Amino acid sequence: MSGECVKRKKVLFIAYVFPPISGSGVQRSLKFIKYLRNYGWEPVVVTVGDTKAAFFDETLFSDIPEGIEIIRINRPGIIDDFYVNELFNVYSKIVPVNILNEYISIINKYKLINLNWLLLPDVHIPWANEVIKEIHKYCNFDEIDLIYSTSGPYSDHIIGYYLKKEYNKPWVADFRDEWTNNPMIKPNKKNIVYIVLREMEKKIVEFADKIITTTDGAASNYKKIFNLKDDKVVTITNGYDEEDFKEISLGKNKSNNKDNEKDQNKRFTIIHNGVLYGNRSPIPFINVIKNLVDGNKISKDKIVVYFAYTDKDEEYKAYIKERGLEECIQFSGYLSHKESLKKASNADLLLLIIGEEEKWKTVHAGKVFEYLRLCKPIMGLSPKGSVTEELLTETGRGKNFDFSDYEGMESYILEIYEKWQEDKLNACILKDYKINEDIIKFERKNLTKKLADVFNELIHHKKFLESIKNKIKEKKAIIGIIGLGYVGLPLALTFAESGYRVIGFDKDEKKIVKINEEKVSYIKHIHDSRVKNSVENGRLFATSDLSKVENLDAIILCLPTPLNKYREPDLSFVINSVNGILPFLKKGQLISLESTTYPGTTEEEIIPKIEKRGFKIGKDFFVVYSPEREDPGNLNFTTKTVPKVVGGATKTCLEIGVSLYESVIEEVVPVNSLKAAELTKLLENIYRAVNIGLVNEMKIVADKMGIDIWEVIKAASTKPFGFTPFYPGPGLGGHCIPIDPFYLTWKAKEYGICTKFIELAGEVNTMMPFWVVDKVVEGLNNSEKSLKNSNILVLGLSYKKNIDDTRESPSVELIKILKSKGANVFFSDPYIKKFPKKRKCFFDLESIEITAENLEKMDCVLISTDHDAFDFDFILRHSKLIVDTRGVYRGSYENVIKA
Ligand SMILES: NC(=O)c1ccc[n+]([C@@H]2O[C@H](COP(=O)([O-])OP(=O)(O)OC[C@H]3O[C@@H](n4cnc5c(N)ncnc54)[C@H](O)[C@@H]3O)[C@@H](O)[C@H]2O)c1
Repeated sequence: MSGECVKRKKVLFIAYVFPPISGSGVQRSLKFIKYLRNYGWEPVVVTVGDTKAAFFDETLFSDIPEGIEIIRINRPGIIDDFYVNELFNVYSKIVPVNILNEYISIINKYKLINLNWLLLPDVHIPWANEVIKEIHKYCNFDEIDLIYSTSGPYSDHIIGYYLKKEYNKPWVADFRDEWTNNPMIKPNKKNIVYIVLREMEKKIVEFADKIITTTDGAASNYKKIFNLKDDKVVTITNGYDEEDFKEISLGKNKSNNKDNEKDQNKRFTIIHNGVLYGNRSPIPFINVIKNLVDGNKISKDKIVVYFAYTDKDEEYKAYIKERGLEECIQFSGYLSHKESLKKASNADLLLLIIGEEEKWKTVHAGKVFEYLRLCKPIMGLSPKGSVTEELLTETGRGKNFDFSDYEGMESYILEIYEKWQEDKLNACILKDYKINEDIIKFERKNLTKKLADVFNELIHHKKFLESIKNKIKEKKAIIGIIGLGYVGLPLALTFAESGYRVIGFDKDEKKIVKINEEKVSYIKHIHDSRVKNSVENGRLFATSDLSKVENLDAIILCLPTPLNKYREPDLSFVINSVNGILPFLKKGQLISLESTTYPGTTEEEIIPKIEKRGFKIGKDFFVVYSPEREDPGNLNFTTKTVPKVVGGATKTCLEIGVSLYESVIEEVVPVNSLKAAELTKLLENIYRAVNIGLVNEMKIVADKMGIDIWEVIKAASTKPFGFTPFYPGPGLGGHCIPIDPFYLTWKAKEYGICTKFIELAGEVNTMMPFWVVDKVVEGLNNSEKSLKNSNILVLGLSYKKNIDDTRESPSVELIKILKSKGANVFFSDPYIKKFPKKRKCFFDLESIEITAENLEKMDCVLISTDHDAFDFDFILRHSKLIVDTRGVYRGSYENVIKA
C-alpha cells in the first residue's frame, strides 16, 4: 500500500464485474475506484481471479489508480455434491429455514440438479463462497472501515452480508439494477426460486446500512416493497467521466474504424452505443426506419444506423434483411469503451432503447449520461413518464417515445435529419448543447463524492453509536425516570443500585422530599434502606425540574395511563410530560416509554413530537417501548429478575434500548416493533382479565350447584399441562387489569374490530361486587336481619393482599354499594390507616383494629382482601357472620358464607 493513503479510510469494495471484465456494469465500479481517493477513501477491491466473462477490455486498467490493492480470489474448480451442500449452508443463514426446506424438497422431488437451480442467487455464488471463506487470509479487517458491494451479480451482496455479520462493519449495498423487481425478468411469483431470491433480497436490504440505487424510481420501489425508511435508500445515478472525453470534441470525430468513418460523414448517422440485450427490442425502431425509407422521406443511401453488440444479432439481421435494410442498418460488434465513445461522437442522432414495459420506467441505461455529455440529440424509447423521458426533457437533449409511437419517432428523426441535410445540425449542436450544470452533476467524479458522503455519514454514525453504547457499558450514562410511582421508584433504584447516576422526576413534591431529604420509601413493599443507600451514595436524586432532562442520556417514562370517564385511554399524563421535556431534549438521547398503552401510541403520540424538534429517529435520537411487568409485593421477582420486553422504532433504537436494559436486567427480550412490544403488555393483562372473568363465572355456577370452586381449582391444577389456575375474588382490582384491556378495545374500534372477550370479561368482573353484596344480604337474611343499618366490616382495602395500593380496588366498590343500601360500613387494613382521597369517591373512614370487641359488634365481616397479617382463626372465632370472597376458609363453618 502506498504511503500517501495512510490517512484514508478503507472501503472493501466487492465487485465481481471488474477489469478486465467489461460491459455496461463495470464503468460504475471502475469510476468510483478511480475517484474515491479524491474524497479520502482508499478502495481495497475484491474481485474474481480467473474468469470466463463475455467481454474483456484490457484498456480499462488505465483507469485504475496506481497502488490500489486488488484481491483476486478464484472461483472453485469443481462444483460437486459436497460443494453444493456447502452452498446450502450459505443459503441457510440468509433464507428462512422453512422456505429453504421447501426448496430442497422440490429440487429432490423433481431431480432439478442443473446449476441454475442449485446456484443462487446466480452462477457466481461459488465464487462468493470462496471469498467468504478466504478473504481473511488477504485482508486485515481491523483496517477496514466499511464494506461496499455492488450488483449484479447479486452474489456480491451475499459476500457483503456475511462480512458485515462476521466483522460488524457498516455495509453499503449498491444495486445497479433492481433485483427481484428487475424489468429484465418476468418472475412467476409462486416459483420457489423467486421466493428464495426474494427472501435473500429482503435480508440483504434490511441488514445493509445503506442501499444505493441508480434511479429515484428504483429507490422508491425498494422503500415500498421492503418497507424501508426514506433515508435508508440513496440514489446515485450512473454518469460520465470527463476524462473519457478528452480526445472527443463536439461535432464529428475521427474513428479508428476507417470503413465506417466514410459512411458516417456522408450519411445521416444514428448510433445505438453499447450492448443491447434481453427484452429491449430494436424492432419498433427498425420498422420506423423502414417506413421512412419506404415513404421516400429519407433515401436509403442517406441514412446509416449502427448497433454495437446485441445478444440476438442474427435474429435482427434476418429481420433487417427481409425488409431490405441491410445497407443502412449495421452491427459493429463489441467495441472497447473508448472506441465506442469515439464512434458515438460521430453520430448525428443517438439512439437509446430502454424497454417497452411499465417496469422500464425506473431504469436508466448507463450510457444515457455519456450520451448527454456527447452533446447530440437523443431519441429515447421507453414508456411515457419514465426517468429517461424526465431526463431528456430536463436537459433539453432529446425526446422520448413510447414503443408504439411510430409517428412521433418518424417525425423526430425527420426533424433532425432535415437539419443535417441543410448542414445546420452541427451549428445547432454547438449553440444549444452546452455542458452546463444539468450535465456536470452526472460527472463520475461528482457522483463518487456522493458515494464518499454516504460512507462518511455511516462512519460518523457508527462512532456516534459506539460512544452511546460505551457510556452505557461503562455505566457513565445518566438515567432519568419520569414518574416515581409504583413502577418508576423501583426502576430508579434498580438503575442506581447497578451503578448508574439516576435523576428521578415527579410532579408530586412530597415524593421528592421523601427521597431527597427523608431518604425513605413511600411504597410499602420497597424498603427505606434502598432509597437511603442510593441517595446517600449520590446515585439517586429526585426533582420536579424538567430542565434537568438535558443532562440525561436515557429518559424512561413511567407515567399513569388511566381511562377517562368514557372508559377511553387517557394519555394526558404521558403527553403533558413529553411536551414538558421537549425543549430539553438533545441529540443522542434515548426515550423509553414504559406506561401500559395501546399499540401505536409511541409511534403516533411520541415520535412525531420528537421529530418536530428536528431529530431523526434512529439516527440522532432513539425511541423504544418497554412495558413494565412490576408485580408489587411479589417476593419471587424483582425489577431485575423479571424479563423485559423491548421494541424499537428502528433497528438501532432497539440495539441501544436493549443494551441499556441488559445492563441492569437479567433477561431482555427484543421484539421487532414498538407495536409488538405495546401489544405484548396488553395481551398479558387481557389474558389475566379474561381468565379471572372466566373463573368468577365458574364460581357463580359452582355456588348454585353446591360445589366448592376452590376445591375444583386445586384439583384442576394437578394437571401438569394446559391448565393455569386463576382464582375468583370480589372483582378486578389494581391499576392494570381492570383498565389496560380497554386500551385495546378502544384502538381495535379504529380497525372495525370488536373485542368480545375483553367486553365479556369486563361485564362478569364488574358484576362481581354486586354478587358478593347479594351474599351478604343472604347471610343477614338467615339471621332475620336487613342490610340496612347492619354493621358491616370490610376486611382489606387494597386491591390485593399484602400491599397498600387501593387503585380500582373492589373493596372500594363493595363499600360504595353497601353504603348505598344503608349499611354501616367499617374497614380494617393493616397497611392503610385512612380511606384515601380518590377522584371518584371518598368515605371518611379510618381502619379499625381487629379485636374481639370490634368483631362482635359487626353483623357481618366481609373478607375482600386476604392480607397475611389478618388472624383468620381469631376472626372466625369472634364473628357472627363471615362472607369470604377469597377462599380463606376451606372447610364448612356455620358462620361462613363463600362468595
Ligand atoms: N403499578 C403496577 O404494578 C404496574 C405494573 C405494570 C405496568 N404499570 C404501568 O406503568 C405506568 C405507571 O404506573 P404506576 O403504577 O407507576 O403509576 P403511579 O401512579 O404509581 O405513578 C405515576 C407517578 O407519575 C407522577 N406523575 C404524573 N404526572 C407526572 C408528570 N407530568 N411529570 C412527572 N411525574 C408525573 C405521579 O405523581 C406518580 O408519582 C402505568 O401506565 C401503568 O399502567 C403499572
